[in-house]
Amino acid sequence: EEGLHPPAYPWSSSGWLDSFDHSSIRRGYQVYREVCAACHSLDRIAWRNLVGVSHTVDETRTMAEEVEYTDGPDDQGEMFQRPGKLSDYMPAPYPNEEAARASNAGALPPDLSLIVKARHGGADYIFALLTGYVDPPAGVEIREGMNYNPYFPGGAISMPRVIFDGLVEYDDGTPATTSQMAKDVATFLHWAAEPEHDERKKNGIKAIILFSALTAISLYVKRFKWASLK
Ligand code: HEM
Repeated sequence: EEGLHPPAYPWSSSGWLDSFDHSSIRRGYQVYREVCAACHSLDRIAWRNLVGVSHTVDETRTMAEEVEYTDGPDDQGEMFQRPGKLSDYMPAPYPNEEAARASNAGALPPDLSLIVKARHGGADYIFALLTGYVDPPAGVEIREGMNYNPYFPGGAISMPRVIFDGLVEYDDGTPATTSQMAKDVATFLHWAAEPEHDERKKNGIKAIILFSALTAISLYVKRFKWASLK
């Protein structure tokens, strides 16, 4: 059974010339870190990917250094712990799938790196899912430990509602309402799945300008060359 179709929201990045809202990516990273990262990995994003997108290099380095990474083997063949570096990838909440399922009543929280591309509806779906938890309609039984969400295919999802008003405190003073946090984390995950998005659109504009100029030049040259034959 398909889930309810999410509405099409007016994302800052929807238009063919529009870029991401980078303040929103930054807030969304905070929501990912403080809420989602307890259960979901983000394997394809390294600390360095945040630099110049949502954080300065110093901020990013500080955040990376707060995480302990296992490295090695060293000269003696031993593994060792060291603080994170910009080149390290986001730390995962569980060591393996078995541990992830054991902590989530058998369900597997998927890696969120490409989730916006992997799910029909993209960022609209993520927003609708996070804000869409409601009581099941009359007559619909939800198993113990499962939650009703009409946007999730089948309606019964093992992830509970995780976003509530005031759950995080944004450093830019934006009020952390449920919908604000859902929007920000959906924007962050959209960026994570498509980090080349802004660059791609910028290149599109350059290509249009370049080909317009070439067309104009060739039309001018044609007129000039054929002028004597009139
Ligand atoms: C599934 C996002 C927080 C546990 C999912 C899915 C998304 C998602 C997009 C996939 C749904 C699908 O398959 O279509 C998020 C975001 C979070 C968050 C953005 C933070 C704002 C959490 C937390 C937990 C959790 C804190 C654990 C307490 C799960 C589980 C599933 C899941 C177990 C699998 C659900 C199922 O297949 O029934 N989440 N999640 N999530 N999430 Fe989260």
